[in-house]
Amino acid sequence: MKKQILKTEVLVYDSENKLPDIYQKLLKQAHIEVGNAYAPYSNFRVGAAILLENGEIIGGSNQENAAYPVCICAERVALSAAAALYPDTAIKAIALTAKSPSMVLEQPVSPCGTCRQFMIEVQEKHQQKYLVFLQGETGPVYQIDSPKDLLPLYFDASVL
Ligand code: THU
Repeated sequence: MKKQILKTEVLVYDSENKLPDIYQKLLKQAHIEVGNAYAPYSNFRVGAAILLENGEIIGGSNQENAAYPVCICAERVALSAAAALYPDTAIKAIALTAKSPSMVLEQPVSPCGTCRQFMIEVQEKHQQKYLVFLQGETGPVYQIDSPKDLLPLYFDASVL
């Protein structure tokens, strides 16, 4: 028996101002997308923005449903919109943020497990990793090099 350590590396920026311009713009769009959330049940509003290799930015927000399991997270809305509009265009980066009904989010919000798996499938589809930026309403920004870094021991098609 041996112990294996799985590591995730995160770059931490004090604020969005330290990011390159294009990623500041991406994050800004994610904050704008929060305003498009349909979240009458949780009142937790999430915004995502995707930068494509062709320079386009595609947004998404969480879309809830009275049948709760039908709710779709912002990341999957944005990634699906990008796939529908530009099926053959790889992704350079995704940015994620949120607004809580009960507190000011001053720490980065993290994607749920389902969205991490979904993000990895998109990486696999295009055979290209992409950056992940996470921020709360304010505060530090986390930069992760690849969706796969966010889900150790992820499931993939190699075992199907
Ligand atoms: N949500 C997202 O949009 N993305 C995530 O990664 C986590 C959760 C949404 C789903 C639901 O509408 C609300 O946040 C509360 O869970």
